[in-house]
Amino acid sequence: MKLRTIDDMKVSALGYGAMGLSHAYGEPVERNEAERIIRSAYEAGYTYFDTAEVYRGTYKDGSESINEELVGRALHDVRDKVRISTKFGISIAADRGLVPDSRPEVIRRSVEASLKRLNTDYIDLYYQHRSDPATEPETVAEVMSQLIREGKILHWGLSECSAQYIERADAVCHVSAIQNRYSMMARSAEALFPLLEKRHIALVAFSPLANGFLTSGAHSFAGSGGKDYRDTMPQFTEEGRERGQALLDLIERLAAEKNCTSAAISLAWMLNKKDYIIPIPGSKNVNRIRENAAAADIVLSADELEQIDSLLEKSDFLVFGGNRIVR
Ligand SMILES: NC(=O)c1ccc[n+]([C@@H]2O[C@H](COP(=O)([O-])OP(=O)(O)OC[C@H]3O[C@@H](n4cnc5c(N)ncnc54)[C@H](OP(=O)(O)O)[C@@H]3O)[C@@H](O)[C@H]2O)c1
Repeated sequence: MKLRTIDDMKVSALGYGAMGLSHAYGEPVERNEAERIIRSAYEAGYTYFDTAEVYRGTYKDGSESINEELVGRALHDVRDKVRISTKFGISIAADRGLVPDSRPEVIRRSVEASLKRLNTDYIDLYYQHRSDPATEPETVAEVMSQLIREGKILHWGLSECSAQYIERADAVCHVSAIQNRYSMMARSAEALFPLLEKRHIALVAFSPLANGFLTSGAHSFAGSGGKDYRDTMPQFTEEGRERGQALLDLIERLAAEKNCTSAAISLAWMLNKKDYIIPIPGSKNVNRIRENAAAADIVLSADELEQIDSLLEKSDFLVFGGNRIVR
């Protein structure tokens, strides 16, 4: 696959987001199968893999699917050929959702535990999963600087962060990438482009397919009765589908013209926009992982990009996280 850069790191133009194998997308995938899927992504040319300490799920027998362990095992013998990112700084509470905590002692415990679960000596890119209002960005950045000096992490980044947070953190220890939600339907990250360019920071785009909506077929997700976080996402309601239909039609037409899938067009759109954007689609399906990789080679003309962008400008989508204001 074509490569992109995050500071001095070369990574595949698309990364593989491993979250759904354990977390948020229905039942976790059986361990051996999950490792086979991760490995197949590597074989399809992906060299950047994203996980997090909180990506976990429960199997029917009550045991845990621990995403970092799956990634670590699947890639152990090719560790020097891949880049792995993981994340610290949140826990998930049944009653309160995401609970941020980036106190230095918490980060220290997290990094040691992630290194162990990933079965590695270093983390290529270590993200703060969410900003912690109780810990200053400078404090977090100082810990990152120490971890880099100790060789435990090589680079660091921020997820779902504001411009002000990035500036304060980057002033203490260079932020290599931010990982924010970004797709055709959720474009608030575009307001950060000038800052990212000025500070040489990459944008790793999470949920780049709007959680599977911007594909052929997956937008018909019919609900899982509470096992899958798409149950609560407005793009999968009838009204959400209606409001997104013109976009789905357009990407389907472009996909037919370019002999690729709608998902690949959705990913190519952002790859063609900026050379520092690295989408990390997730999939449990080896064929789709390969289909998505094809996006790295799709060239969209200025006219095709304009057709998409002008439709986006006049659309009013219903989408999970679409108007999120980050602090
Ligand atoms: N930093 C953060 O806070 C944060 C939050 C969310 C996610 N992430 C990261 O971003 C990654 C990707 O996000 P995501 O998985 O939530 O959203 P996504 O990549 O936008 O969508 C994933 C969904 O799309 C479907 N899909 C993927 N390729 C497809 C294709 N070619 N055709 C049809 N359907 C396709 C998948 O279904 P199948 O599995 O059935 O193919 C899955 O249901 C995660 O794995 C995680 O690493 C980070």
